[in-house]
Amino acid sequence: MSDMNPEIVQEVKRRRTFAIISHPDAGKTTLTEKLLLYGGAIREAGTVKSRKSQKHAVSDWMEIEKQRGISVTSSVLQFNYENHCINILDTPGHQDFSEDTYRTLMAADSAVMVVDSSKGVESQTRKLFKVCKMRGIPIFTFINKMDRQGKDPFELLEDLENSLGIRSYPMNWPIGSDKNFKGVYNRAKQQIEMFNDSNHGQNIAKIDSGDLSDPKYKEMFGADLHQKLLDELELLDHAGDPYDLDKILQGELTPVFFGSALTNFGVEPFLRSFLELTPPPIARVSNEGEIDPNSDNFSGFIFKIQANMNPTHRDRIAFLRICSGKFTKGMQVNHVQENKKVRLAQPQQFMAQDRVVVETAYPGDIIGIHDPGIFRIGDTLCEDASGIKYEGIPVFAPEHFAKVYTKNALKRKQFIKGIEQLSEEGSIQVFRRPNIGVEELIIGVVGVLQFEVLEYRLKNEYGVDVIIESLPYRYVRWITSDNFDKKNFSMTMDTMLVQDEYTNPVLIFQNDWSIRQIEERNKNVKLEEISLRK
Ligand code: G4P
Repeated sequence: MSDMNPEIVQEVKRRRTFAIISHPDAGKTTLTEKLLLYGGAIREAGTVKSRKSQKHAVSDWMEIEKQRGISVTSSVLQFNYENHCINILDTPGHQDFSEDTYRTLMAADSAVMVVDSSKGVESQTRKLFKVCKMRGIPIFTFINKMDRQGKDPFELLEDLENSLGIRSYPMNWPIGSDKNFKGVYNRAKQQIEMFNDSNHGQNIAKIDSGDLSDPKYKEMFGADLHQKLLDELELLDHAGDPYDLDKILQGELTPVFFGSALTNFGVEPFLRSFLELTPPPIARVSNEGEIDPNSDNFSGFIFKIQANMNPTHRDRIAFLRICSGKFTKGMQVNHVQENKKVRLAQPQQFMAQDRVVVETAYPGDIIGIHDPGIFRIGDTLCEDASGIKYEGIPVFAPEHFAKVYTKNALKRKQFIKGIEQLSEEGSIQVFRRPNIGVEELIIGVVGVLQFEVLEYRLKNEYGVDVIIESLPYRYVRWITSDNFDKKNFSMTMDTMLVQDEYTNPVLIFQNDWSIRQIEERNKNVKLEEISLRK
């Protein structure tokens, strides 16, 4: 530690980089907004627009992208809270759900999972949770909308365990619900925190708290509710999981906070506790072992590539997660995969709702760098000539498949170029059927909107009209056994064997019954839902 740059050590220590995961409508936008409100990045709630309200045709969507650079500006939000520098990574949902949503989780050091108290764990949360689990990052749960009628809190904890397989530790415990919601009991501080919605969540809420033993609470809650609280707290202490910070940091135990983002209730205690428990950027694995974030050598990896929506510029923005050292504007770095020097001239950073040119940045920060078409997802950039490579970004399972053709055979070259470009940006995955005469492209996407984007961009940027013929496949598995032998492999009628861009064998399925059948019939073959990019 002695020869480390104290400035870097200090900046790493105060950084927290996390993603908020949830199912649409659980309250991710509202919670994000409230965190910005507490961080002083916005003055009043209601300034961050919910993207879900933009129900529109794809061309409108493109217009919005162009006007606001929406997915760029909302990709990362940086703000300060007390002495912490916080980076929130956006995980787009609704119709914007795509592979980028998963890839963003590769850049986060922890995740906040927002669950609607009336719904419990929902499908999109389950998918995103799987990626967090695979990475072993800490996961914090915010059970939202406690001001409304919701499920029983014990039932919600059971749901976390049954649907996600994660044990939980409630950091606070709700008192009453819906119209009779009184507040929470803070288990660490052993105090009651009273709910108060008088300011409707517009401004920062003051916490009115007190000791559980104070007789006034029995009067305020009523004897039954007061007794119910005492019984539930006793049950939690005796039958619940014990608090275990190591397990939290390994993503095996999730601290649970009950609150209401809309009314601000529980948001600040959550933020404080989260900042205390969640780790600053830690060492990341490379081909040369773990790289200490405090190291003097700047390094980072690209996890997302964003196309420039202006068709006259093919330029793109590559999102770089800084993993070690200090970034300074204009620095020259080594692009490891291409073995080339690159100058990072106009890097951008995303402060609350604005895009600014960044002068310096540190581990945990995300910067947007100009990409004239040289970067690929998973590339490493580093300052020295060591040539370290960070662990690759996996390829996540597409859920929609289609055959895509060009209407005009004379445009085939442009068609292939466009497909290659979109595949490099990671918005589509390309599969081919081996050994069939004509070349036929099967495109897989995580979110169905990507097909519309594909059609729009091929027409606008490459002048190619395409036919997209939807296929009934919904699941994919990469065959990862080295000794895979097609001849001895038993298929089902509704399953197709294809190859990915690296000619790895891949199966696409119409239903999960077929997956189980194939696993049953081919016990020696290993199937994976996520593929590690070569
Ligand atoms: P999302 O980003 O996860 O999709 O959810 P978002 O924050 O947009 O919230 C979805 C809806 O739930 C919104 O209502 C929002 O006001 C509401 N909501 C969020 N947190 C709470 C909470 O703590 N309590 C209650 N009662 N409601 C909450 P909407 O009517 O769909 O939209 P809007 O017109 O309010 O924007």
